[in-house]
Amino acid sequence: MSAHQPPFVHVQNLQVTFTSRRRLPWQTAQPIHAVREVSFTIGGGSTFGLVGETGSGKSTIARAILRLVQPTRGTILVGGREVTTLQGREVLGYRRQVQAIFQNPYASLNPSHMVGEIIGELLTRHRGVRPGSTRDKLAGELLAQVSMSQDLLDRFPYELSGGQRQRVAIARALAVEPQMIICDEPTSALDVSIQGQVINLLMDIQEQKGVTYLFIGHNLSIVRNISAVVGVMYGGYLVESGPTQRVYAEPTHPYTRMLLASIPVPDVARQRERVAQRRRFEHAEETTHALHRLGGCPFQHRCPLTQAICRQTMPAPTPVAGGGEVRCHFHGS
Ligand SMILES: Nc1ncnc2c1ncn2[C@@H]1O[C@H](COP(=O)(O)OP(=O)(O)OP(=O)(O)O)[C@@H](O)[C@H]1O
Ligand code: SF4
Ligand SMILES: [Mg+2]
Repeated sequence: MSAHQPPFVHVQNLQVTFTSRRRLPWQTAQPIHAVREVSFTIGGGSTFGLVGETGSGKSTIARAILRLVQPTRGTILVGGREVTTLQGREVLGYRRQVQAIFQNPYASLNPSHMVGEIIGELLTRHRGVRPGSTRDKLAGELLAQVSMSQDLLDRFPYELSGGQRQRVAIARALAVEPQMIICDEPTSALDVSIQGQVINLLMDIQEQKGVTYLFIGHNLSIVRNISAVVGVMYGGYLVESGPTQRVYAEPTHPYTRMLLASIPVPDVARQRERVAQRRRFEHAEETTHALHRLGGCPFQHRCPLTQAICRQTMPAPTPVAGGGEVRCHFHGS
C-alpha cells in the first residue's frame, strides 16, 4: 500500500456539471457543479481514500471513472489509457479492468439469480468460461477467496446476511481479475463488527493481487486504515490531499480539521476541545446547492478564517510540507 507507486490512475482537471430539473415551467434550470477542477493520481496497487460530506461529489468522481457519467471537462487516464473517449468493445475491455462495489450489495445482485449464477455470469461475459462444472468450480474458488463456503453457491441473495452479500459482490468483482476496484462506501450498510472483516478482506486481496483501490468512505478511521493517500472533498472541489499519515496528523485545510475533529478520541480533555472546535465550524449551515452558486471558496460560510479574498477567488492547489496539496488562501493558519 505504498504511496509511491507509479500512477495507475491519473485524473486531470475533472469537471462534472449536471443540470437540475425545473420544478415549475417558469423556473430556469440551474447547473449543479458536482465535481470541479479535480486532479489526483492513484499509485498502482495502492489505495486512494476519498472523504467529504454528503453531496460533495465523491460518487460522481467514482461514476466518471466507471464511465457511468460523462465528464463536462477533464481527462481520466487508467493504465495509461484515456477512458472518457472509449467506444464500443473498448468499454467491455475497460469493464474487465475496473470493477466496482457499492454500499448496498442487495441492489447490485440480481435477486432472482443464485450466487453461482451471479458470479458465473461475469466469468462467461468477461473470460469466456461456459456454464458448467468448470465455471462452477471457478465460482467456488472465488467464494473461497472471500472466505465463504461453496455451499452458498446455491443460495439466493435474500438468503444471505449483509456481510455475506458484500463478500459475494467482492467475489463477483474478482471474477474478472480486475486491476482496479472502486469501492463506494462498501461497509457503510454493514454492522460495525462486520465492517472490519470486509476491510481486512479488501486489504488481503490488494496484498495478494496488487489491485488498485479508490475507496470512498464516511468512517474516517476505516479510510485511514486502508488508504495510503487520502483526498478530502468539499462542494465539488478536492480541498486537500496527501499521504494519509500527514493529512490525519497535520490537517491543513479548515474543513479537514473540522472533519477530523469529529473522530471520537479517548482523551477526555482533547475530546472536549474537539467538540468545541466542531461547534465553531457548524455555526452556519448552507445547502450544497446554494454553495454551488457562490463565487470563491465553497467553505467560506462555515470557515472561521474567511477573508474578503475567499469570497472572490477559489484558491489554487498549493503544495503542503509533508506531502500533498491544499486549496485554501490561509492554509495552516
Ligand atoms: N444524475 C444527477 N443529476 C443531477 N444531480 C446529480 C446527479 N448525481 C449527483 N448529483 C448531484 O451532484 C452532487 C454530488 O453528488 P454525489 O453523489 O457525487 O455526492 P457524494 O459525495 O457521493 O455524497 P454521499 O456522501 O451522500 O454519497 C450532489 O449535489 C448531487 O445532488
Ligand atoms: S479559502 Fe478562505 S474560506 Fe476557504 S477554507 Fe481557506 S480561509 Fe476558509
Ligand atoms: Mg456517494
